Amino acid sequence: MNMHLFIMSVLTVLLAMSFPFAISEVLEAFTKCKEFFYKGQPPVISGILETHSRNNHYKIICQKYHKMYKFATFYNTENRIPVFAAYKYTGQSTPFKRPRIPWMVEPQLDPPVDDMTLPYANQAISEDYNNIRDHVNRGHLFPCGHAADEVTANSTFTLTNIVPQKISFNAGSWNRMEKEIKDIMNKYCYDNNEVLAHVLTGAIPGKSKLNERVNIPSYLWTAFCCYNSTGNAWVSQAYWAPNVGEDKNKVKTINKTSLQELQEFLSQQLMTKVQLFNNNCAKKHTTN
Ligand SMILES: *[C@@H]1O[C@H](CO)[C@@H](O)[C@H](O)[C@H]1NC(C)=O
Ligand SMILES: *[C@@H]1O[C@H](CO)[C@@H](O)[C@H](O)[C@H]1NC(C)=O
Ligand SMILES: *[C@@H]1O[C@H](CO)[C@@H](O)[C@H](O)[C@H]1NC(C)=O
Repeated sequence: MNMHLFIMSVLTVLLAMSFPFAISEVLEAFTKCKEFFYKGQPPVISGILETHSRNNHYKIICQKYHKMYKFATFYNTENRIPVFAAYKYTGQSTPFKRPRIPWMVEPQLDPPVDDMTLPYANQAISEDYNNIRDHVNRGHLFPCGHAADEVTANSTFTLTNIVPQKISFNAGSWNRMEKEIKDIMNKYCYDNNEVLAHVLTGAIPGKSKLNERVNIPSYLWTAFCCYNSTGNAWVSQAYWAPNVGEDKNKVKTINKTSLQELQEFLSQQLMTKVQLFNNNCAKKHTTN
């Protein structure tokens, strides 16, 4: 083996070791993972999430782990953060600990690495988050605390599910909100006697970048839609908050709001029409 080839193979092995691969699927449509959307229908984000007019900076990912689809991601390769993650909350049958696994990258977002100087142009890598100057860390969109089991929890540790989130916000009010909606869903969201809610969580791109590569979102938002078996009705609830640091002693409350208000807010921010859940999470009235 000549020296050059040898160095290249060593580099390849090192690279493979430092970036565990997610074995997901980057696709043209959400068809294969439509189960993660209410009524099997992805949100409407006019001009951005439409198969015919979608521009190249946006990628559809059906997140697969251990040969099973676990959630869905709409990813922006220019900002190197997801637009949203879609998942099903189904409660937790057996408790599990927060996984301690290496962060995965998505090989299909980037062409095979033959130019070693420019790997992963289309996504964030773990090293991007080592920059501590911005006081952000890795914020899950699909939180591992909402996963049904350990395998699903592991699947959330892919960087395509992550945005730079202010550390104190991630550990503070956002974390409390994740627990709060979990309690609400456990209490009310039953479909055929099983816990079920469809959840969408996303980030609105901001003006600054982490490590000069990864967009630091200005806001995070989340919404769920489920059948409320107590109230016998389809219900939704939404939250959003600016991605800013917070003071432990001054408890920040997250803006809890209606689906309608969140959609108006997102439409304003993204400057396009946004509809998160089919028919706004309401079963159609039938006239007969
Ligand atoms: C999930 O991650 C844990 C590490 O926290 C590991 O021990 C376990 O084997 C993983 N499970 C699966 C099914 O991948
Ligand atoms: C479900 O319905 C009950 C009874 O109407 C109501 O008190 C509760 O707030 C509802 N839950 C949600 C999440 O809307
Ligand atoms: C919630 O959002 C509304 C509408 O944008 C805004 O008027 C209000 O100040 C926000 N409240 C909080 C606590 O962020």
